[in-house]
Amino acid sequence: MSIVGPSGSGKSTLLYSISGITRPTSGTVTIAGVNPYQLKPNQLAAFRRQIIGFIFQQYNLIQSLPVFENIVIQQRLSHQQPKRSEIEQLLTKLNFAGQIDGAVETLSGGEQQKVAIARTILTDCDVLFADEPTGALDSVSKSIIFTYFKELVAKGKTVIMVTHDIELASQTDRAIVLKDGQVQQIVPEPSLEAIYAALDKVV
Ligand SMILES: Nc1ncnc2c1ncn2[C@@H]1O[C@H](COP(=O)(O)OP(=O)(O)OP(=O)(O)O)[C@@H](O)[C@H]1O
Ligand SMILES: [Mg+2]
Repeated sequence: MSIVGPSGSGKSTLLYSISGITRPTSGTVTIAGVNPYQLKPNQLAAFRRQIIGFIFQQYNLIQSLPVFENIVIQQRLSHQQPKRSEIEQLLTKLNFAGQIDGAVETLSGGEQQKVAIARTILTDCDVLFADEPTGALDSVSKSIIFTYFKELVAKGKTVIMVTHDIELASQTDRAIVLKDGQVQQIVPEPSLEAIYAALDKVV
């Protein structure tokens, strides 16, 4: 599923609310049958570790640490056993061109974005929330990442993605168009034209 809309329309805010990060002021959130905001803090933390993955718009990587450490820390928090070969395989699959033992701060924005994506995917979450996950990527890498998301969906995972890329949004099962913090339109099986038409009403 994709969430589209102009800058400041509330895409990140919606993603935070429906992923258990920010409690909404009204409405109910249900993820895999559970309302995360009814859980106690330690239960919520466990639920988020087990079920949810979140790829942040600003990556939230530890800049001074190597790529490998950034990924391993996240996996340990999710009680996964990090395997270097598995990490290398996924990074290669995602078209990562940097050094796995190099500090994140030495990478380009696009390579950092791939690390942020790999780090979250490797926690083996059931529901993946991704905030503009292809924003810094070249078109080849973007297509590789999107194809990988489709593979996750084929395996039964859920991917909810904020994007400015209307062409990408048109390849998702459902597009939600936001305006001024409100859902303007939900477009099932969206065509490019249908999303542009919904956005036209917005601008
Ligand atoms: N922590 C906050 N406190 C108060 N207002 C906020 C906060 N975070 C975001 N906002 C405001 O909420 C609105 C929606 O912001 P949000 O970041 O969700 O937009 P967005 O659609 O993700 O934009 P972009 O495409 O630029 O990432 C904006 O007007 C923003 O200024
Ligand atoms: Mg945003």
